[in-house]
Amino acid sequence: MIMKNAEAQIGMIGLGVMGSNLVLNMADHGFTVAGYDRDPAKAAALSQTAGSPKVQGTADLAEFIALLRRPRAVMLLVPAGAPVDAVIEELVPHMENGDLIIDAGNSHFKDTDARAPKLKAKGIQFLGVGVSGGESGARHGPSIMPGGPREAYEQVRPVFEAVAAQVKGEPCVVWLGPGSAGHYVKMVHNGIEYGIMQLLAETYDFLKRGLGLNDDELSAAFAHWNQGELNGYLVEITSVIFAKADAKTGRRLIDEILDVARQTGTGRWTSQSAMELQVPVPTIDLAVAMRDMSDFTKDREQAGAVYRRPIRPVAGNCEVLLIRWGRALFTAIITIYAQGLALLGAASVKYGYGLDLAAVARLWRGGCIIRAGVLENINAAYQARPQLPDLLLDPKLARTVQEQQEDLRASVCQAVNAGVPIPGLMVSLGYLDALRSPWQPANLIQAQRDYFGAHTYARIDAPGTFHTDWEKP
Ligand code: 6PG
Repeated sequence: MIMKNAEAQIGMIGLGVMGSNLVLNMADHGFTVAGYDRDPAKAAALSQTAGSPKVQGTADLAEFIALLRRPRAVMLLVPAGAPVDAVIEELVPHMENGDLIIDAGNSHFKDTDARAPKLKAKGIQFLGVGVSGGESGARHGPSIMPGGPREAYEQVRPVFEAVAAQVKGEPCVVWLGPGSAGHYVKMVHNGIEYGIMQLLAETYDFLKRGLGLNDDELSAAFAHWNQGELNGYLVEITSVIFAKADAKTGRRLIDEILDVARQTGTGRWTSQSAMELQVPVPTIDLAVAMRDMSDFTKDREQAGAVYRRPIRPVAGNCEVLLIRWGRALFTAIITIYAQGLALLGAASVKYGYGLDLAAVARLWRGGCIIRAGVLENINAAYQARPQLPDLLLDPKLARTVQEQQEDLRASVCQAVNAGVPIPGLMVSLGYLDALRSPWQPANLIQAQRDYFGAHTYARIDAPGTFHTDWEKP
């Protein structure tokens, strides 16, 4: 053994791709790290890949604990849910007063809130930390969203700041708030991720089946968009995906992939939480629903046979249409960020996170899956007005949305006429239209509720609640 006892500055439990890559990233920045995985092959692979005395993997928990410097800081990168509790249970008997456990997985924020006090009672500090950026982010610089006691964060801050992605000399990590603030922000990050992915998929569908673009043309369109206001990681990888050949068939890989999308649940959690807090996030809800719908393969086949209506190809100048669709897509994407940030604002009040939404936008600029150029504008919007009630009310972004909303409207109409399903784009436009509508037909809903359930209604011209016998002549 090369690493001496009590030498490691931090420990990692869970040496899957994410865990090992984060360890290697820490070692690159000069930190001494011990890794534990109950699978000896994974533990050995870490030591071997690192090939450095600064990294040691082990499948022996007692040995792992002995390698850690006191007060110990142990990071968990294990699947959310029961595995996190199982690891904590195994770990706690080895830990001492003042030690720190960091859950860096996609844990549900309510689980984080439940775990922290139990550990605190045992003298152990707990941080719930969102980490975004996938395998390559973990290896070369993720976006990190920490929440929990501030003093606990200070203990590991140098490690986090060193390994995080850097944008304009700033690390993409900042302490977000107490309790489950970090996991909440990560959950909403994923909800936004679901929404953007759904809009990109719908746009792909329209360009493919409505406009008849082939994979090369699709790749070029997304690459071109990535050079402009739509610049962002998800747009960039979408372009790369269309160009990728299948090793098995030699054809484009995208055309060999089944049209059923899986999920681990973070998007659904975002929608559930939004419903609880009564904050509308319809594009995220829709994105979750469409993943579910994608699994209804048999029903889709049968309904396709019943409701026959072939896609009507769209004619027109392709270059002009692509410019319009890019503007439409960008406008719809802004509404998703607006929905996600409105939810964060409400959650911050409800759960006492005290979130700085400008700081959230800044740490999403690099490393994470939703990183995109527009986050600079979002950061600027919340820096100018930290209490901005809705992102769509920022004057600069509002100007863009105002200028481009007709592109979204026209694109939606075009896809609807062609018969290409674009429910995410429709719902984003609907969200915008509802938000900018001073009057909504909710008076009718109040009247209906009062009619059938005597739920009463409020009047425009007088305070209080009223009831009417609607059937009385
Ligand atoms: C990230 C990703 C990451 C992961 C999600 C995907 O930020 O790095 O969001 O957390 O890819 O688990 O979620 P689904 O499996 O639900 O699509």
